[in-house]
Amino acid sequence: MPVIMNSKPKVLVTRRWPAAVEAQLAERFDTEFNRTDTPLTSAEFRSALARFDAILPTVTDKLGAEALDVSAPQTRLLANYGVGYSHIDADAVRTHGITVSNTPDVLSECTADIAMTLMLMVARRAGEGERELRAGEWTGWRPTHLVGAKVSGKVLGIVGFGRIGQAMAQRAHHGFGMKILVQNRSAVPQDVLDRYGATQVETLDAMLPQCDFVSLHCPGGAANRHLINSRRLDLMKPDAFLINTARGEVVDEHALAQALMFDCIGGAALDVFDGEPRIAPVLLDCDNLVMLPHLGSATRETREAMGMRVLDNLVDYFEGRDPRDKVL
Ligand code: DGY
Repeated sequence: MPVIMNSKPKVLVTRRWPAAVEAQLAERFDTEFNRTDTPLTSAEFRSALARFDAILPTVTDKLGAEALDVSAPQTRLLANYGVGYSHIDADAVRTHGITVSNTPDVLSECTADIAMTLMLMVARRAGEGERELRAGEWTGWRPTHLVGAKVSGKVLGIVGFGRIGQAMAQRAHHGFGMKILVQNRSAVPQDVLDRYGATQVETLDAMLPQCDFVSLHCPGGAANRHLINSRRLDLMKPDAFLINTARGEVVDEHALAQALMFDCIGGAALDVFDGEPRIAPVLLDCDNLVMLPHLGSATRETREAMGMRVLDNLVDYFEGRDPRDKVL
């Protein structure tokens, strides 16, 4: 339940944030910043839960059952800096009656931009080309050199048709004339599908064989762990591409590496990894794979907007309202 406090609430920021947002936080709250800019350990979290009214975690803070194994925490709000919150144990926060908020909307456009970047890079073999050039191995233009796949007019399957999935559809359909197929856990209203010339397909298994590109925009967490596994990779066309800007655990990376090595699919492009920042070594051997270090929301404008959105949620909560982006 939201609370009104007489003194400034004590707030912990777990990583470095854009300076403008840090300044506002420091002004409005009794704020402590983790200046080491490294993820807190479970023990550090347990200690913080006893001392702070709100904690502002990110995707790198693993707030599982171990980190939340405390009795009677002081913390009432986890205002997450990011839209995905599968790193927070929903059962544990419910047990403690802790409220959780996230930062939707503000990062949808930039995350879709990175998904488009990855789709173009892998289809046009841009990563391979750059590696070749930097290694001094480019011998000049020739008709058969690094020939990739055309993107315009192809079929894109979008898994998860929330804000980011729709921003992807907007770019792909209106910018590249792609045909959009959609797989979503609930029925998408027809007027929303019509905006992107999209068709909802009943099951993922039915959609995969029809796609030239598959882009993942669903939440992570246990429910979607290894949604893309070896069986589903087998359902994809041999020249299709997989793009993941959602969460690493959605893809079975070992099955993906096998599929890439044996040319069961054309290629893949990942911005997120299971257990990141550790990268499964088997992925590093795949030439037809583009990898980025979780850059989806990484623009100055977006990272600042995310911080401001966290601030809005804090203000809501400590002025006695439900945070506008309450998710748990
Ligand atoms: C998000 O907002 O979910 C990004 O992946 C960073 O956490």
